[in-house]
Amino acid sequence: MRTVSALFSLCTIFSIATAACNDRADGFASLNGGTTGGATGKEVTVTTQADLEKYAGAAEPYIIKISSRIDITPKGTEIDVASDKTIIGAGANGEVYGGGFFLDGSKNVIIRNLKIGNTVVADDPDGKTQDWDAIQMDTASNVWIDHCLLEKGGDGLIDSREDTNFLTVSYNILRDHNKVFGIGWTDNIVAQITIHHNHFQNVNQRNPSTDNVLHAHLYNNYLQKVTSYGHYSRGHTSMRMENVFFEQTKNPVTKDDTASLNASGNIYQDCTGDIAANSGNVFDPHEFYDYQLDKTEDVPGIVVAQAGPKADICQ
Ligand SMILES: *[C@@H]1O[C@H](CO)[C@@H](O)[C@H](O)[C@H]1NC(C)=O
Repeated sequence: MRTVSALFSLCTIFSIATAACNDRADGFASLNGGTTGGATGKEVTVTTQADLEKYAGAAEPYIIKISSRIDITPKGTEIDVASDKTIIGAGANGEVYGGGFFLDGSKNVIIRNLKIGNTVVADDPDGKTQDWDAIQMDTASNVWIDHCLLEKGGDGLIDSREDTNFLTVSYNILRDHNKVFGIGWTDNIVAQITIHHNHFQNVNQRNPSTDNVLHAHLYNNYLQKVTSYGHYSRGHTSMRMENVFFEQTKNPVTKDDTASLNASGNIYQDCTGDIAANSGNVFDPHEFYDYQLDKTEDVPGIVVAQAGPKADICQ
């Protein structure tokens, strides 16, 4: 009897730990074969930049755990992340300080539960003189960025460029920054992106700026203290926006004449500037995947409680 119950509890602990580090993406990143990162590979814990670079750039799949702060030199270095990787904070204190990540054509990558940033240059707070992103993706595919804290970057916090596709960005905090989250750098209209339950806080522009996106699904985000503009349907983007909570945001919803927009259920609290009107035919996200929409009035509470790195995500 004792043996059985000991075995049972061992299995329980094991399965919780494994599931927590091996979670898979929802939204558009769940399509095209899904986004599992390094789930089929070995788990390694890294404490140095050299080991992070070695495993992130390896040909084989890896789950790469970071449980403490790794200082990146020289400042602004974007570490190459190859296909089939999960880079995940184990506990709430995993941090990549003074650098970021570059996914150059990579497929099936998860970046989760990490603090990333602090590449801003003191005499250039707007990031005009360098291209140091927290996460840069060029023609990447199947990427899940989840429960990260992205702050004070040298250029963008997230730059999703050149037809990066099947991207889900969920439960992140993006704060204290100028050019927050840019999507585009392409004339093609192919990208499909889900952006939900993120906290944009004390930021200026690109929250996000969504250029030439075939399907942009934004829901349950919480924008707070935004000084330039909030969600922007740009170029030929088709954007479905649902139940977003905008607070103290200038120009909460922006749209180019060439873009389409279907926004519903938003709350605008103490906002200024313009709210673009809906126009054009916009896709229905339910035709692509299932998702649970939270009530807009509950969004600040849910997002503040749940966004950013959490101790219980990957033990
Ligand atoms: C917005 O999209 C929903 C879901 O597809 C649809 O039911 C609704 O009619 C659309 N509204 C507008 C104004 O297009």
